[in-house]
Amino acid sequence: QTDPLILGIESSCDETGVGLVRGTQLLTNTVSSSMEEHIRFGGVIPEIASRAHLEAFVPTLRQALADAGVSLEDVDAIAVTSGPGLAGALMVGVSAAKALALATGKPLYAINHLVAHVGVGLLENSMAVRSPGEGLPENLGALLVSGGHTEILRVRSMAEDVELLGSTIDDAAGEAFDKVARVLGLNYPGGPAIDKLAKEGNAKAIRFPRGLSAPKYMGAANEPGPHRYDFSFSGLKTAVARCVEGYEARGENVPVADIAASFQEAAVDVITAKAVLACKEKGMTTLLLGGGVAANSRLRELAQQRCAGANITLLVPKMSLCTDNGAMVAALGAQLVMNGVSPSDLAFAPDSSMP
Ligand code: KG4
Ligand code: ZN
Repeated sequence: QTDPLILGIESSCDETGVGLVRGTQLLTNTVSSSMEEHIRFGGVIPEIASRAHLEAFVPTLRQALADAGVSLEDVDAIAVTSGPGLAGALMVGVSAAKALALATGKPLYAINHLVAHVGVGLLENSMAVRSPGEGLPENLGALLVSGGHTEILRVRSMAEDVELLGSTIDDAAGEAFDKVARVLGLNYPGGPAIDKLAKEGNAKAIRFPRGLSAPKYMGAANEPGPHRYDFSFSGLKTAVARCVEGYEARGENVPVADIAASFQEAAVDVITAKAVLACKEKGMTTLLLGGGVAANSRLRELAQQRCAGANITLLVPKMSLCTDNGAMVAALGAQLVMNGVSPSDLAFAPDSSMP
């Protein structure tokens, strides 16, 4: 008996992703991004993203099938991101997946985008940092940081036991990078620009606030505060804006590299500290990173240091598998098929705010 061949479809934000996976083996991961069309607006415009998915879907699917050397008839099941994400964008992928499922008679699996970010770790050779060998350990922690989400998850079992431990109460981590970049006059998307500029700056030049780190939010391990594992980046963003305004009001040059480095330090300090704290307190000995912000060089460095210090195994997927893609959706779909989970009822609707 051969492992099932799964087609995965992702369209929750600006990436149209089609991936093909056989069991735990990645065959192809084809992504078409509409990022270029959003750059001049300084952020993803939902209407433009939806339209771009519509135009990109069929060519991306054709490309993926050709690259993997398979045809639609060979596919055993289809998996699609059904939420969370942009409503119109999700609608395109879900409609496409349903149409394919109806036309081919293949079973369809609705997939949670966030769990799929973790599910990518099921694939062989998916990691840039430490290959976990086969599968993922039990009681795994995940830190998901992108332009749309910022979460700490506890994953006991990928199919039915995923717990949200903490998330942002305002901006997503990537959004904070993008907004601060704009304040500093850098191009969108701001994360890579800040990462680069920060290398020329002093991260200790300015002490920016670490959101939700005060005792009243953190509490103690035996008596957790209301936001022990949560994040907030709006205060940090405002502090950077005030700082820049101060220099301008005094007629001084704005030390953009120092500000970029100090902002980045504040953001990734609190992100990695809370993720490692959650791992320690919940007995999770492995932490998996996901999302575009996982590309940040300082975040990776600090995560590595702090995980090593706490005896936590850090898993960092290859960058193409960290950002949004169809392979992660297929990987999780394959796991469900191999575990005998029933397919979704075709009547399911996309859910932009899926928990
Ligand atoms: O996962 P992703 O490609 O798309 C979604 O948001 O779903 O993440 C994009 C986000 C953007 O906000 C971008 O600024 C951020 O990831 N990003 C980074 C870096 N590379 C991308 N943030 C910090 N440092 C980076 N090197
Ligand atoms: Zn994502």
